[in-house]
Amino acid sequence: MMTPHSVSATVPPAPGRGLFLSFEGIDGAGKSTHIERLAQALRAQGHRLVLTREPGGTALAEQLRSWVLNEPMDTLTEALLIFAGRRHHLQQVIAPALARGETVLCDRFTDATFAYQGLGRGFDLSVLHTLEQWVQAQADLGLSPSAVVLQPDLTLWFDLPAEIAAQRLTEARVPDRFEAQPLAFFKRVAMGYAQRAAQDPHRFARLDAQGEREQVWHQLVAALRARGWWSA
Ligand code: TYD
Repeated sequence: MMTPHSVSATVPPAPGRGLFLSFEGIDGAGKSTHIERLAQALRAQGHRLVLTREPGGTALAEQLRSWVLNEPMDTLTEALLIFAGRRHHLQQVIAPALARGETVLCDRFTDATFAYQGLGRGFDLSVLHTLEQWVQAQADLGLSPSAVVLQPDLTLWFDLPAEIAAQRLTEARVPDRFEAQPLAFFKRVAMGYAQRAAQDPHRFARLDAQGEREQVWHQLVAALRARGWWSA
């Protein structure tokens, strides 16, 4: 059994480099409100922040996002567009911000590709690994590398059973290509996140997203505090 949040030691970012936090979970897990709240709290603690999202984060990548979310396409095309957008986003926004010592909060990152395109759609994981190595190679992102491939320093994973997330989503707006998927798809996506977390347990903090909003928030704060990244 996994604990509600991992408190194990995390490799800190290279000296001078900003903190890179990502937020993950199946659609309906409730991450959005917490990202906003965390952004406010970290600003109040003196962080210079960049709040961004994937797919998206640059004009080009936002254009790719709208195609990926709305246009029919095969999964290889989908994966390539997502990684193309990610490359642009990393080069134009994320890496420069980290190099300036800013904190980057990114609503979804590569774990979502493994969960949605990999487990959800059944796409070849080894191809995704290769794309991840190319796109996130630190050597040509201009960062002082603490690892060869740039990953978030911490991934806040809002974990929620797919059945509950689906109930929450029925009240939502018109579904995009992912939100319109059946329950079985989201069960696989949830499994995809669990697999990624098991492969990199120090990077992930699992938040039990079933509870009240306030309980989830307390878990999130505890995960940051355990790593020394919460000063309030
Ligand atoms: P989401 O982040 O949930 O934004 P919103 O709150 O506006 O709905 O939507 C993005 C969708 O894109 C989500 O269903 C997951 C999907 N996605 C992928 O399939 N692969 C990826 O690599 C990423 C980043 C997102």
